[in-house]
Amino acid sequence: MQRLTKIALLLFTSVFAVENVVARSIGGEDVACATLRLRYPSFTFLPGSAGYTYETTTPYWSATVYSTPKCVFVPQNAQHVSFAITTFTLTLSKFAVRGGGHMPIPGYNGINDSGVLLSSSNLTTLSLAKDKSTVSVGPGNRWRDVYAYLKPSGLAAVGGRVGHVGVPGLLLGGGISFYSSQYGFASDNVVKYQCVLATGLIIEATATNAYSDLFWALRGGGNSFCIVTRFDLKTIASSNVWVGIAQFDQSQAAGYLDGVYNFGKYGAPADPKAAIIPTILAFPSANLTIYVAAKFYDSLEDSPSAFKNFTAPKLAPVVDSYSLQSISDYVASTDPLQPLGLRQEFRTLSSVVDREAVQLTHDIFIAGVASKLSSVANLQASITFQPVTKDFLLHSSKTGGNPQGVDVSKAPFFWMVENWTWTDPNDDARVRAAADSITAEINSALAANTFGAKYLYMNDAGPGQPVFQSYPTENLQRLKAIRTKYDPLKVYTNLLPGGWKVANA
Ligand SMILES: Cc1cc2nc3c(=O)[nH]c(=O)nc-3n(C[C@H](O)[C@H](O)[C@H](O)COP(=O)(O)OP(=O)(O)OC[C@H]3O[C@@H](n4cnc5c(N)ncnc54)[C@H](O)[C@@H]3O)c2cc1C
Ligand SMILES: *[C@@H]1O[C@H](CO)[C@@H](O)[C@H](O)[C@H]1NC(C)=O
Ligand SMILES: *[C@@H]1O[C@H](CO)[C@@H](O)[C@H](O)[C@H]1NC(C)=O
Ligand SMILES: *[C@@H]1O[C@H](CO)[C@@H](O)[C@H](O)[C@H]1NC(C)=O
Ligand SMILES: *[C@@H]1O[C@H](CO)[C@@H](O)[C@H](O)[C@H]1NC(C)=O
Ligand SMILES: *[C@@H]1O[C@H](CO)[C@@H](O)[C@H](O)[C@H]1NC(C)=O
Repeated sequence: MQRLTKIALLLFTSVFAVENVVARSIGGEDVACATLRLRYPSFTFLPGSAGYTYETTTPYWSATVYSTPKCVFVPQNAQHVSFAITTFTLTLSKFAVRGGGHMPIPGYNGINDSGVLLSSSNLTTLSLAKDKSTVSVGPGNRWRDVYAYLKPSGLAAVGGRVGHVGVPGLLLGGGISFYSSQYGFASDNVVKYQCVLATGLIIEATATNAYSDLFWALRGGGNSFCIVTRFDLKTIASSNVWVGIAQFDQSQAAGYLDGVYNFGKYGAPADPKAAIIPTILAFPSANLTIYVAAKFYDSLEDSPSAFKNFTAPKLAPVVDSYSLQSISDYVASTDPLQPLGLRQEFRTLSSVVDREAVQLTHDIFIAGVASKLSSVANLQASITFQPVTKDFLLHSSKTGGNPQGVDVSKAPFFWMVENWTWTDPNDDARVRAAADSITAEINSALAANTFGAKYLYMNDAGPGQPVFQSYPTENLQRLKAIRTKYDPLKVYTNLLPGGWKVANA
């Protein structure tokens, strides 16, 4: 009876108020924090406490997204998450959800004192199935934790290429892995999601159970559907791999860009075990550009040909750390290359694989950064050409498909990510304006030469980029229908305002 009353109250207050939440004047977030603190005092942190300070800064990649929530709740299990969601809904409190904290968009993984921060820090389950075919991963883990856990079994998972990136955000947007030519998006390798619906119900979604529609939506639909409390991932046999980073200097630019194009066009499609992350780093105040390529080969035997366009005699690196090691050791040793606590911004672009497209993208990017940002202190800018093969996309469609629905017929592609890194908050507006104008200039040059491609990868996108609009229209319609079915009151759209929202696309 008590439960019925509670549910009735929940429905009543929600129906009449969720849509009008902006107009309210009393602070539901105060009531939510008081409720959480009463029930779970040791997991609810108020401003001024060490736990609060830690949770609102340390786990984040970019200092631009530190936030000042009314309180921070650190659930220890799915039941605690369910209690929190019910509390937020009853009190009409806004909230934010943070996994690894790597999305550098203000308000997407944090919230100011109009709401509560729900932290994944303690949802750190890691457990290998008896038959070792799957691993259960809590959303508080980073990819380095997953690789380190699987290493003693000679296994890996299709996941991130940088160790401190969070598991949940990467998987909810898709996930580009060193293993993607062989196994598709990281999210194509999730076999089960445990998650908390807007009603507070804890459910499990698989490709074949009653929640198969939700399962499909979670493969690339972001945080509009439920709060994921566990991902069950397929494991892959991969003990040691050939991996490391080669660096080239400015005088080798032309040969490097030839190598990038040829790898995207021929090298990657010919051998799905091979991957590269080609990144061009510009330091405009020093008039310096360096050319870097992380090379990866998923085998104990190195390939004689996969990287011949990036090795002597074709293109001799200045330094090269390519060697046989576990993915776990590689991500541990490269983590310091991506320090936390700087100011960061991304933009994403995509193109077909064409030599001239690579050149014009590179030239506009380097010139734009030099002309607009040379005087920004400590500015570093980079552009990365991520090669995406037909095999990558075919694997995705063979495993039940995903909302991204990338058009295989036009593959291969480059999915590019531009990054800007700086230190002074007074430069934020200037860097963001430059990011927008450089991106617009590259996009119009690509379009004018019919090099453009449609898809925009959520996890590399900047604020306002039309991510869901780049998915096939029918997939977006299906996402919207699934969202409406599981969360008709828009809890995960209006009370959880941060993130890419299908309802608003
Ligand atoms: C240095 C670096 C390296 C990267 N490398 C790669 C790479 O190799 N491959 C790749 O594909 N991407 C990569 N990315 C991009 C990365 O996938 C995204 O930044 C991603 O959002 C990070 O996930 P997170 O959990 O750390 O993010 P968060 O910022 O914590 O979360 C991202 C979004 O997911 C939501 N969310 C988080 N947890 C949950 C949950 N449990 N349930 C529901 N919603 C949730 C949040 O509300 C937020 O909107 C990289 C990013 C960086 C900064
Ligand atoms: C806090 O968030 C609300 C809602 O998003 C917004 O209107 C307000 O400007 C924010 N305040 C600050 C100080 O950032
Ligand atoms: C939970 O997370 C906090 C940080 O918020 C950390 O200090 C603590 O050690 C974690 N506890 C467990 C049991 O993992
Ligand atoms: C290397 O580049 C040549 C063109 O110079 C191309 O034919 C070849 O396929 C490329 N190989 C790889 C592995 O990228
Ligand atoms: C910047 O470097 C390029 C290539 O090394 C050189 O041609 C150019 O003159 C340099 N510009 C300045 C202003 O130093
Ligand atoms: C740029 O951002 C992307 C995130 O999507 C990440 O994979 C990459 O490591 C970043 N590169 C640099 C040089 O910061």
